[in-house]
Amino acid sequence: MRVELTVNGQQRSDEVEPRLLLVHYLREVCDLRAANVGCDTTSCGACTVLLDGASVKSCTVLTVQAAGQQVLTAEGLATGGELHPVQAAFRREHGLQCGFCTPGMVLAAVGLLAENPHPTERQVREGLEGNLCRCTGYHNIVRAVLAAADAANGTGTGSTGSRTGPDASGAGV
Ligand code: FES
Ligand code: FES
Repeated sequence: MRVELTVNGQQRSDEVEPRLLLVHYLREVCDLRAANVGCDTTSCGACTVLLDGASVKSCTVLTVQAAGQQVLTAEGLATGGELHPVQAAFRREHGLQCGFCTPGMVLAAVGLLAENPHPTERQVREGLEGNLCRCTGYHNIVRAVLAAADAANGTGTGSTGSRTGPDASGAGV
């Protein structure tokens, strides 16, 4: 069946199988490979994208369910050759190692900050609990999200701000 949607600002119209998952549509039809498939149990979040601004696991969404909506993948975050502020914060705060979880983690963070521009550390950890990272221990990821929030809010406290408390010890998100 034909599906019409917008991917990273580009209007698309494609013939797809009704059962085609959005993550496979993005990777195989759109040739956008940032959304990764890291599990088959809806648990890793590596496939996270934004759907009309809300983060979703694209392995749980049928392409046809995204009809008429705006999909944003990590490929669409940077503008004019400049990293998105959340991407820049991940780079600055060393919020990645192998990078497999990173596109999904960044998009989950973008969605989180859109909903809550002033999150506490605990809210960041809770907001990202659906995204797993096997490399970083989460500590730098949380610092990156808090730093991005501070930069957006003009508070400039960055990763050493007052919100980094006892549970900044690297415990899982
Ligand atoms: S691939 Fe793991 S949650 Fe989607
Ligand atoms: S950076 Fe390797 S899985 Fe997160």
